[in-house]
Amino acid sequence: MFFFISLLLLKYSKQGFLLEKQLQDFRTAGTHTLAAKVFLRNVIITCNGENIKSSIATQFNNYSIGFRMHALEPLIGNGIFASEGERWKASREMLRPQFSREQVSHVQTLEPHFKNFAREIRKLNGKEFNIQDYFHKITIDTSSEFLFGESTNTLTSASNDKFQFADAFNKVQDTLTEKFMLGPLHWVSNSKEFQGHIKEIHDAVKFYVDKALETQEEKLQERSQDNYIFLYELVKKTRDPKVLQDELLSILLAGRNTTAGLLSFLFLELSRNPRVWSKLKEDIYESFGQGSSDELEKITFESMKRCTYLKYCINEALRLYPPISRNVRVSKKNTTLPRGGGKYGDSAIFVPKGTIVMMHIYSNHRQKDVYGEDADEFNPERWENLKPGWAFMPFGSGPRICLGQQFALTEASYITIRILQTFPHITGNNPQYPPRKVSNATMRLMDGCIVTLK
Ligand code: HEM
Ligand SMILES: *[C@@H]1O[C@H](CO)[C@@H](O)[C@H](O)[C@H]1NC(C)=O
Ligand SMILES: *[C@@H]1O[C@H](CO)[C@@H](O)[C@H](O)[C@H]1NC(C)=O
Ligand SMILES: *[C@@H]1O[C@H](CO)[C@@H](O)[C@H](O)[C@H]1NC(C)=O
Ligand SMILES: *[C@@H]1O[C@H](CO)[C@@H](O)[C@H](O)[C@H]1NC(C)=O
Repeated sequence: MFFFISLLLLKYSKQGFLLEKQLQDFRTAGTHTLAAKVFLRNVIITCNGENIKSSIATQFNNYSIGFRMHALEPLIGNGIFASEGERWKASREMLRPQFSREQVSHVQTLEPHFKNFAREIRKLNGKEFNIQDYFHKITIDTSSEFLFGESTNTLTSASNDKFQFADAFNKVQDTLTEKFMLGPLHWVSNSKEFQGHIKEIHDAVKFYVDKALETQEEKLQERSQDNYIFLYELVKKTRDPKVLQDELLSILLAGRNTTAGLLSFLFLELSRNPRVWSKLKEDIYESFGQGSSDELEKITFESMKRCTYLKYCINEALRLYPPISRNVRVSKKNTTLPRGGGKYGDSAIFVPKGTIVMMHIYSNHRQKDVYGEDADEFNPERWENLKPGWAFMPFGSGPRICLGQQFALTEASYITIRILQTFPHITGNNPQYPPRKVSNATMRLMDGCIVTLK
């Protein structure tokens, strides 16, 4: 049947325990690297840090990103997230500087969206709800504002044009995931509905791109003075509307579900660990007060970085639940990985050209020889003295390392701080633990994250 799906062990995937199953397979086999042939394709699945480092960093040039390129093309064309070689290099060079400049200003633009979020939660009057849905809303609202200068505002409106953009964007991703999993058969999945949604999204983005291209430079300058708008900065680098569209959508695609995933898994753990919740609350109140309006300006990019317990909690959520829990590369020539061969698995193995190398970040982050016997437990304190090296890479590594790492950490930190300030009490109602997960592309909670906030 389908190519990738078989690799992903359909049954466990449907039940939401695929990642656990693969972790257990590594542990019971006492190995970190497994090689197999699936439909005549060589496949290597590895959670070894040296091997992962090799395929995404030190031997970068020997690998391609594989099917991702074709699967994502209908939405993001040649944008950074789906391109390789010279094209990718040009994208990366153009986008990288934009990400260092936004860091400071990003914080202020978050507050209005948090207020919308808090208003919706208050309306629930202490009833339980799925906070994962709200994290998906707030992250598309904040990223659309940052990217286009106008927010989807899914947290305020029930059915307007901008909400439809968000809806179409969600639906398109389901098909893109399907394409990704079909591998070389990606073209099979291409419904009329899908094409319609793609057109809707492209039209909406084109509207903002055209507007930016028509606006005089001084006007743009003015507008991005109080608010950093990615598009307005980018038109200084290129005036090609297709390039602008591809890059903006790449960033939206790369940044939205990943950040929502981090927050959802963090709050799942916080709702189960009253001790951690209290300690985090103390830490936050000590640094930033309890959220009165005159205290809000204390929450800056710099001051959040100094909030150590918050940092530990976020690291621990990223460790146990890396939003990109598996990543894939395909070898472009005969090469080797440094580990997995020999009697003890500590010598190199041969990687024939065309091998799919699946990097199991989820298992890499749970190695007992690095993290100890409690590797599967949520314990933020472990970060006090931890130097995990190649056993922690939620944002990847090497030349394609995540461009939005600071953006994501800033946003997740800010939202967490504001939630604990505004709602001091949390309870969770998520009986299944470890939680069932959907992890075809980015990882999310299959049953949501059910909490009450007061
Ligand atoms: C917790 C949140 C996030 C996680 C865990 C994450 C993780 C990753 C990972 C693992 C990669 C590397 C993919 C690969 O090597 O194949 C990546 C790439 C990327 N990320 Fe993120 N990301 C997050 C949030 C964001 C945000 C918020 C943005 C933008 C606002 C962003 C923008 C990008 C871009 C543009 C790339 C492609 C870089 C390239 O190919 O050169 N990410 N991300
Ligand atoms: C793999 O990449 C490294 C560094 O880019 C290079 O030195 C090496 O020769 C490559 N291996 C093969 C088999 O081409
Ligand atoms: C991202 O989240 C949206 C909204 O919850 C969902 O519809 C979409 O399928 C997700 N995309 C991926 C790649 O998981
Ligand atoms: C993704 O995973 C879920 C459950 O883990 C599965 O039921 C579903 O069919 C998969 N989606 C796609 C598009 O293959
Ligand atoms: C690559 O390795 C295969 C053996 O798996 C061999 O038959 C082939 O000649 C090699 N190709 C090159 C270019 O070395």
